[in-house]
Amino acid sequence: MTSDSLPDEAPPSPPPASYYQRHIFFCLNERSGGEDACGHHGAKQAFDHCKAKVKAAGLSGPGKVRVNKAGCLDRCAAGPVVVVYPEAVWYSYVDLSDIDEIVASHLQNGQVVERLVTPAHLGR
Ligand code: FES
Repeated sequence: MTSDSLPDEAPPSPPPASYYQRHIFFCLNERSGGEDACGHHGAKQAFDHCKAKVKAAGLSGPGKVRVNKAGCLDRCAAGPVVVVYPEAVWYSYVDLSDIDEIVASHLQNGQVVERLVTPAHLGR
């Protein structure tokens, strides 16, 4: 094969599947009038804790993990909840050790924490 038959440039790399490898959304919703919501069960503290853990583990940033606030995710009966994409895995957590496990297992290693997965039938 001669150099005349070779392309001038390598073909472009395919675009990344997504900007972040994983994206976790925390429902931080609060409601007035006595109606329950994730925000009444330590969701903001859990969000702050998750952000700190992800950053400390060197997992934050493009191509890695993004931790985001969200409003009501419409699964209030299972709250407090988070959802992790692209796997679309929903978790119901109780305390900060649950968040630690989600970070270490799912966000860092892609292993779903089965014991925290939100039951499929629980919605609003
Ligand atoms: S208040 Fe959290 S899912 Fe609705």
